[in-house]
Amino acid sequence: MQISRAKSKKSNPNLLSLSSVKMRNVRVSSKKSSLLTRTLYIILLFAISIFFFLLYSKDVLEDEQNPLFYNDFQSNSNPHHQSEQIRSPVHFVDEQLRASTFSRDLRPCVKPTARYKVAQESNRYLTVKSNGGLNQMRTGIADMVAVARLMNATLVIPNLDKRSFWQDSSVFGDIFDELYFMRSLRQDVRIVKELPKQLESAPRARKHFGSWSGMSYYENMTHLWREYQVIHVAKSDSRLANNDLPLDIQRLRCRALYHALHFSPPIEHLGKAHYGACFKLGSDFMAVTPQRLVERLRSRGGQYIALHLRYEKDMLAFTGCTYGLSDAESEELRIMRENTHHWKIKKINSTEQRNAGLCPLTPREVGIFIKALGYPLSTLIYIAAGEIYGGAERLSELTLRFPNVIFKETLATQDELGAFSHHATQAAAIDYIISVESDVFISSHSGNMARAVEGHRRFLEHRKTITPDRKGLIEVFDKLDSGQLQEGPYVSNIVKKMHRNRQGAPRKRSGPPPGIKGRARFRFEESFYQNPYPECICKS
Ligand SMILES: *[C@@H]1O[C@H](CO)[C@@H](O)[C@H](O)[C@H]1NC(C)=O
Ligand SMILES: *[C@@H]1O[C@H](CO)[C@@H](O)[C@H](O)[C@H]1NC(C)=O
Ligand SMILES: *[C@@H]1O[C@H](CO)[C@@H](O)[C@H](O)[C@H]1NC(C)=O
Repeated sequence: MQISRAKSKKSNPNLLSLSSVKMRNVRVSSKKSSLLTRTLYIILLFAISIFFFLLYSKDVLEDEQNPLFYNDFQSNSNPHHQSEQIRSPVHFVDEQLRASTFSRDLRPCVKPTARYKVAQESNRYLTVKSNGGLNQMRTGIADMVAVARLMNATLVIPNLDKRSFWQDSSVFGDIFDELYFMRSLRQDVRIVKELPKQLESAPRARKHFGSWSGMSYYENMTHLWREYQVIHVAKSDSRLANNDLPLDIQRLRCRALYHALHFSPPIEHLGKAHYGACFKLGSDFMAVTPQRLVERLRSRGGQYIALHLRYEKDMLAFTGCTYGLSDAESEELRIMRENTHHWKIKKINSTEQRNAGLCPLTPREVGIFIKALGYPLSTLIYIAAGEIYGGAERLSELTLRFPNVIFKETLATQDELGAFSHHATQAAAIDYIISVESDVFISSHSGNMARAVEGHRRFLEHRKTITPDRKGLIEVFDKLDSGQLQEGPYVSNIVKKMHRNRQGAPRKRSGPPPGIKGRARFRFEESFYQNPYPECICKS
C-alpha cells in the first residue's frame, strides 16, 4: 500500500488499471465457489478498499487545502438529479473564480512613465498590410503602433488581409472603431486614415521587417527615411521582439491592443459588456440587437465556460489530425492539405502528431476533460468556433456530457447575426469578446486565438483560463479507449492534478526554453500578448 500511494502521487494511471484488472479476475474466479477463492476474494476486497480509502483521503485533504472546483462528482453520478438540472440549469459556482479570478493585488498598468514624451508631428509615413486571421492582425497592428513610435513615423490605418483563409472583405473600419483607435493613441503616435494625396505616388521602401526584431533594428531602419518618405510594411505579424524592449514601448503595445483597438460599435454591442463607454450607439442599431449576447448567456446560466473548440476542417487538415475520423474524412483532409500551397508540411503521421500533443482535442475528448475537471452536467458552455468538422453528429459526443451547449447561432437571431455571418473576421470578433468575458476559458488547441484570449484575460485580473495538457491527456484518453481506465473519480483526480498549475494564475512571461541559441530562441519565447506580465500588470 505504501508503494501504491507513492505511485499515485505521480498520478500514474497504470495503477488503477492494475487494480481493476485484479478486480475483474477476482469476480470471475469467485464464481467457482471454492473456499480458497472466497477467502482470497475477501482479502483482496479488503486490500482494495484500504487502497482506495488511502488514495481518496489524501486527495480530499489536498483538495481542501487547494480547492479546484466547488462541485463534487456526486451531483454528476445521480441520473435523477441530472435530469432536474437540465430542466432548470443551476448556476455553476466556481469558488476559486468567485474568490479572486486569481487577481490577488495585481492590476492592469499601462500608463507611460514620467520620461515618456508626447508624439511629434511627423511627415514620414508607415503603411502596413496586416496579415493573418483576426488575432494575428490585432497583435500585429498593436506592434505596428509601437514600431511607428520607435521610428518616429505617422501610421496610416493598416490594410487588412483579404486573401488568407478567412476570405473576408472587411476593412479596418468594419472590424475596429477607427476614430477611437486614432484618438486614443494621439499622445503616442500620429495615426491618419490615408496617405496624403501628394504622397500616393511617391516611391516607397517596401520592407519585410525581420521577425522578432528589437530596438536597435528599428533604430537602424530609420536610415530609410533619408531616401524615402513612405515605408510600406508587407507583413505585420511577429515583427517585434517579445522581450528586452523599453517599458514604455511594452506598455504602448498594451494600450494599443487592449484599449485602442476596440471592435467596431456593431460588433462590440452585439458581443459584450464592460470595455468602457467609449462609443455612442445609433438608435437604428439598438433596434436590431436589443440585447447583448454576454448578458443573454448570463441570464441563462449565470456563469459560463467559453470553449474555443478548434475542431474545424482547416485546422484538422493543417495539423494532419485524423484520430477518430472515417477513411473518407481523412482522405478529404489530406486532399485539402495537398492543395493548400502555403501549408508547407504535406506528409503527417496522425498518430505521432496526436501522441506529441499537437492535435486539437476532439469534441468527445473535450467533454471527458471538462467533466473530469468536475464541472456538472448543467454547466453552460459557449462554443467559440466556426463550423465543427463532422457537424452535429460529432458534436453530440460533447453535448451528451454537457447538454447546455450554445453557439452564437443559437444565442442570437438570424437578423442580429445577418451582417456578421458572411464575414469570418467579424464572427471571430464576437467569439473573442464572449471568450474574454467568460468565467472560464478553455481552448482545445493552442493557436493565435487561444493565446490572445489568454493574454487578455491575464491582463484583466487573471481571469481563469484552463490550458489542457494535451500530451498528458492523450495518455488518459488512450487508456479509456482501451478499457484500462473508466471515466469516474479516479480519472477525475488524475486530470485535476495534471491541471492544477494550468489555470491562468499569475506568473511572469517565460523566456526561451533552455538550450536554444541564436535568433531561433525568439521564436520559442512565450508571446508578449499571451502574457503581458510584468510590464502591463502591476501590484496595486
Ligand atoms: C525620434 O524623435 C525624437 C525627438 O522627437 C528623437 O529624440 C529621436 O532620436 C528620434 N528617433 C529616431 C529613431 O529617429
Ligand atoms: C543596419 O542595417 C544595415 C543595412 O541593413 C546593416 O548592414 C547594418 O549591419 C545594420 N546595423 C546595425 C547596428 O544593426
Ligand atoms: C505512424 O506512426 C505510428 C507510431 O510511430 C506507427 O506505428 C505507424 O505505423 C505510422 N503510420 C504510418 C502510416 O506510417
